[in-house]
Amino acid sequence: MAAVSLISRPAGVLSKITSGSSPAVWTLACVSSGQRRDLHHAVIPKGKGGRSSSSGIAATVFGATGFLGRYVVNRLGRIGSQIVVPHRCDQYDLMYMRPMGDLGQIIFMEWDARNKDSIQRALEHSNVVINLVGEEWETSNYSFEDVFVTIPQKIAQAARQAGITKFVHMSHLNADIRSPSKYLRNKAVGETAVRDEFPEAIIMKPAEIFGREDRFFNYYANMRWFGNAVPLMSLGKKTEKQPVHVVDVAKAIINAARDPDANGKTYALVGPNRYLLHDLVEYIYAVAHRPFVPYPLPRPLYHLAAKFFSMNPFEPWTTPDKVDRFHLTDMKYPGLPGLEDLGITPSSVEQRAIEILRRHRRFRYLEAELDETKPAKTVSV
Ligand SMILES: NC(=O)c1ccc[n+]([C@@H]2O[C@H](COP(=O)([O-])OP(=O)(O)OC[C@H]3O[C@@H](n4cnc5c(N)ncnc54)[C@H](OP(=O)(O)O)[C@@H]3O)[C@@H](O)[C@H]2O)c1
Repeated sequence: MAAVSLISRPAGVLSKITSGSSPAVWTLACVSSGQRRDLHHAVIPKGKGGRSSSSGIAATVFGATGFLGRYVVNRLGRIGSQIVVPHRCDQYDLMYMRPMGDLGQIIFMEWDARNKDSIQRALEHSNVVINLVGEEWETSNYSFEDVFVTIPQKIAQAARQAGITKFVHMSHLNADIRSPSKYLRNKAVGETAVRDEFPEAIIMKPAEIFGREDRFFNYYANMRWFGNAVPLMSLGKKTEKQPVHVVDVAKAIINAARDPDANGKTYALVGPNRYLLHDLVEYIYAVAHRPFVPYPLPRPLYHLAAKFFSMNPFEPWTTPDKVDRFHLTDMKYPGLPGLEDLGITPSSVEQRAIEILRRHRRFRYLEAELDETKPAKTVSV
């Protein structure tokens, strides 16, 4: 069997080097780690770029079963990639993902984030690793530290040891060691832990992500069940938000995975417009054709109410940490590359909000035109 040694390169380059020969298995020599990795012939780029071609990407997507994960898997599948989806849920809960790739291209396997072997097994046949593992609230089994520091560190370590050259890690725009939110403090520690373990990692720092299944726009829109009364600290007039659309984030992850220059960079992913939280929530209610009744709620009282909701053992509607996170002004990172540097024109809230909010409308407004709603006021970016 012929085996060709390739220096680790972006997918696009692989096709030029390998055309004309057809070994069953190709060996990718990872010069930096001195390891040799066997890649199946199916990951050699070929075809016109559709779902039945081969993009050259064999990706393991940890956390693929979450909100962002389905968009990432969908985009990987439609350019013809092999995708390994490590999961801990019932396989019937993953049925919706099967048509996202060509036959046999999406491989599901159970994993346990605490088991090093299961992490290694999940990524041993891949050339790209994407970490989307996250949680909105702590559970008795997994703290924020487990999910945002220990697990990413283990994945980064396993990826490095396996000789993988593309590792994309999801952090948060407001990750900060001094943040009042425990979630964001751990995200900051996680970034450093991943960098230490895998210096060439690509770190994505998205603002709050909005999309059909989000927990941001839907969270505020669902407050209609409380008589449209929306509690906001300082009426949301001291908080600036720059939300980013989920499809743009998914595109950014894939473009970064394909860009040979992206390694080692940190990207700040934000939408094109910046809003006061008050104006953003007002716009959400305007699109949903619901009356908007904001009322100021001081932090201690908001925390008390959130603490009550956080006792829900299933899916807490809110938690004190989430209250803090949503009331933090989005950081600005003028020095970091963003969506435009990955060739993406970010979608605005006004372009996409209807996808999320139509289902929050009353029946008689279901088909109402979007131009009837005044765009949200913006603040300078
Ligand atoms: N959504 C946002 O607005 C936003 C903004 C900035 C950054 N981020 C970050 O982007 C990433 C993806 O966000 P998302 O909204 O898609 O998150 P999500 O919907 O909460 O999904 C999280 C994923 O992680 C998996 N997971 C969580 N804990 C796990 C554990 N202990 N063991 C194994 N798997 C575990 C979940 O698996 P199960 O399905 O089995 O639970 C799920 O697949 C996260 O790191 C998040 O912090 C999100």
